[in-house]
Amino acid sequence: MRVDLNEAIRLLAGGGVVAFPTETVYGLGARAADVAAVAEVFRLKARPTFDPLIVHVADADCAWSLAAEVPDAARRLAATFWPGPLTLVLPKRSTVPDLVTAGLDGVGLRVPVHPLARALVEAVGPLAAPSANPFGGVSPTAAEHVEASLGDAVAVLDGGPCEVGVESTVLAVDGDVVTWLRPGGVPLEAIEAVVGPVSEAVDSGVPRAPGRLLRHYAPRTPLWLDVPVPVEGRFGWMGLGTPPPGPWVTCESLGENDVRAAQRLFACLRSLDGRSLDGIIAHRLPPSGLGRAVNDRLERASWR
Ligand code: TXA
Ligand code: MG
Repeated sequence: MRVDLNEAIRLLAGGGVVAFPTETVYGLGARAADVAAVAEVFRLKARPTFDPLIVHVADADCAWSLAAEVPDAARRLAATFWPGPLTLVLPKRSTVPDLVTAGLDGVGLRVPVHPLARALVEAVGPLAAPSANPFGGVSPTAAEHVEASLGDAVAVLDGGPCEVGVESTVLAVDGDVVTWLRPGGVPLEAIEAVVGPVSEAVDSGVPRAPGRLLRHYAPRTPLWLDVPVPVEGRFGWMGLGTPPPGPWVTCESLGENDVRAAQRLFACLRSLDGRSLDGIIAHRLPPSGLGRAVNDRLERASWR
């Protein structure tokens, strides 16, 4: 069900859940302080409670008020990239409910730039919001995507298609040490220009961030990466530029560059997934800029 901004504010303030646009993907939000409402977000997504939610706030001061400690590197990153597609994981204050952080000591904080997302957090305060898709599925970059996967009972604030198209970059900041947990809408090159070299979190057994699951963002149709053209079967193609000759049933070009590819990625995956194909053959991007985030999503979507 579509709602307007006033109705979305009223619902959230009253303990409800609303899907709303951000510059990255649509989020499924609830007031972070309202444990019952946050529990409803987990239920609607069928999300395991070991996977923490990002808290969206109006500005850096509000973010710092939820953190037990704010390293200088976090301040510099925030000054450069907020509002925008960057999430910083910082030690949390006890006022942040444990359900939001899945019992972890850190809380993921982000100041979105999308005007509707900003209007919501300014009106109702911090919003805990994962992407508005069933757990493990393809993220929504349009209101119709939310309705198609979560059903019409969920309230959706329509803000048109998302401009960035892939989720926020997630960084853990621990004193001077910055590690990346998820490549996303802010390229790592831009992060490193501010805080110097950052390394990827190393998972030993249990993923360092629960969302670093190997299979994620997955369509129902099997996805293969960078494999040769199939000889027979109903296959779709997805990649930069134009498809190589082949017996494709349908092709989705991601456009000509990494920025456009990020914007189009999830909509293209969804569209191919709706065509009853035997498989989708996709091609990775050069691993720089937003290419890294696109490749990360493709790799998790194709993991078997
Ligand atoms: O762009 C985005 O980040 C979107 C929009 C709605 O803001 N949100 C989003 O949320 O992608 P979600 O829940 O689909 O992905 C959040 C990722 C997960 O991998 C989660 O495990 C990680 O961030 N995360 C959140 N809080 C964390 C924490 N306290 N510690 C470690 N990882 C955390
Ligand atoms: Mg997600």
